Formats: sequence, structure tokens, C-alpha cells
Amino acid sequence: MKIARLFMLVGFVIVLYAGAQVFAQKEDTPVMRGKKLFANYCASCHGADGKGNGPVAPSLKKPLPDLTKIQKGGKFPTDEVRKKVSGDVLSPVHGKKDMPVWGMIFSQTDITNLVKYLESIQRPYDPQPAM
Ligand code: HEC
Repeated sequence: MKIARLFMLVGFVIVLYAGAQVFAQKEDTPVMRGKKLFANYCASCHGADGKGNGPVAPSLKKPLPDLTKIQKGGKFPTDEVRKKVSGDVLSPVHGKKDMPVWGMIFSQTDITNLVKYLESIQRPYDPQPAM
């Protein structure tokens, strides 16, 4: 059947194209860097998807917030989140600013990337134009 072959060809091209897109996606965007940091430093509590189901979560006294829902009224509170991550806003869990859990490891850029990553996982996801 000619038409079936044509469909197969078109399907094949689509699969190739999609695959190429995945590979073309730059690993080195701020969001991707933030994602890696998150996986290394945050996912143990917050879960790989940020929803609060990390392996350490059950042993914490405080319930974990769903980090995919910190957007308020469609606006992501960048400054607020930044302060919570950097330790400017005290959280006994995250540690204090003068004795931060990860303050020695994270640069300002790291924190910016982390916050950008968090912004990228908000639901409903509003895709930002690629940089
Ligand atoms: C030891 C477990 C633990 C780790 C590790 C951890 N968190 Fe948290 N996080 C919590 C808990 C518990 C809360 C909620 C209670 C609080 O804020 O004190 C929280 C709250 C937050 C909030 C505030 C959410 C809101 O509703 O405003 C943000 C943002 C956040 N975490 C980001 C991070 C990031 C980014 C990392 C990694 C750099 C991280 N957390 C690592 C346990 C953790």
C-alpha cells in the first residue's frame, strides 16, 4: 500500500525531528543548571518533581510545600522565593543566613538559576520564550 508507506515515512520524519529537538536542547541554560542543583541539593526533601515527596520528607516535622504551586495569582514571587532559598528569610529547615545549610556552596548565580528552575515548574506552566 503506497499510502501506508507514506504515513510511515512521515511518522519516521516526525520521530527524527523530535529526537533532534531533544538533543538540540541546550543543557546549559539557567533553568537546566537550576534543575541539576535542585536534584542534588533539594530533591531529597522536596522530591525530584518539587511536589514534596522526597525520601527525607516523612522524617521532617514540617509538611513540605508543593513547589510547583508557589505561584500566586499567575505571578511568580521571585524575590520572596529567592530569600527563602538564600536564607534571608529564616527557615529552621533551610538554615540561617549566618549558618546556612548551603550558603558556602551556592553563588548568587546558583540561587538565581534555582529560582528560575522553580519558576519553570509552576503549574499551569507558562512557557517562557527561549533565550
Ligand atoms: C531538609 C529538607 C529540605 C531541603 C534539603 C530543602 N528544603 Fe526547601 N523546604 C523544606 C521545608 C520543610 C519547607 C517548608 C517549611 C519552611 O519553609 O520552613 C521548605 C520550604 C521551601 C520553600 C518555600 C515554599 C513556599 O511555599 O513559599 C522554597 C522556595 C524551598 N523550600 C526551596 C528549596 C530549595 C531551592 C532547596 C535546595 C537548595 C530546598 N528547598 C532544600 C525542606 C527542605
